[in-house]
Amino acid sequence: MADTTTAPTTASTAGPTAPAKTPADSRVTLAHIMSEHDTNLYGTIHGGVVMRLIDDAAAAAAGRHADGPAVTASVDGMRFLAPVRAGDLLSVHAELERAGRTSMTASVRVTAERWNASGPAADVATARLTFVAIDAEGRPRPVPALTAGTA
Ligand SMILES: CC(C)(COP(=O)(O)OP(=O)(O)OC[C@H]1O[C@@H](n2cnc3c(N)ncnc32)[C@H](O)[C@@H]1OP(=O)(O)O)[C@@H](O)C(=O)NCCC(=O)NCCS
Repeated sequence: MADTTTAPTTASTAGPTAPAKTPADSRVTLAHIMSEHDTNLYGTIHGGVVMRLIDDAAAAAAGRHADGPAVTASVDGMRFLAPVRAGDLLSVHAELERAGRTSMTASVRVTAERWNASGPAADVATARLTFVAIDAEGRPRPVPALTAGTA
């Protein structure tokens, strides 16, 4: 699962007195073209490959909200709605839906469209994951509050 502690970081500015943030402040979209190397024995994209991209996008949203490292604590939900194929451009949209004292829950929506054709993107997966912001010793640390933002 994603561990933002491995990424280059600066000292966190978040904490109990940090200003509240909105979901838009940490919203992120990760785009990836799926290849034949990502397929399973049925010829469609392996679910674990999609799960990794989901974890990456959700971790980025959590890390942005926390202004520093956050680790995956739980995968609270995962739904695969339609198969993904090699040649699909996957867009993984993640945003914060809840912030506790040190934990954060991110919701993720995954869409797919052919990489070289125009057309509507199809919903292929949704997920919800919880992250915990950690300090340099790996202990939970406080995160900013989450306020309702404009969509
Ligand atoms: C996640 C982790 C930092 C929590 O540490 P902890 O000392 O057990 O945390 P606490 O019991 O003090 O709880 C801290 C917060 O985490 C939440 N939490 C802890 N375990 C959780 C879990 N399994 N699922 C959801 N939330 C969890 C608590 O509800 C609490 O939230 P709050 O502060 O918003 O109220 C620790 O369990 C850990 O390091 N786990 C491994 C993470 C990891 O390696 N992930 C994969 C790679 S990134």
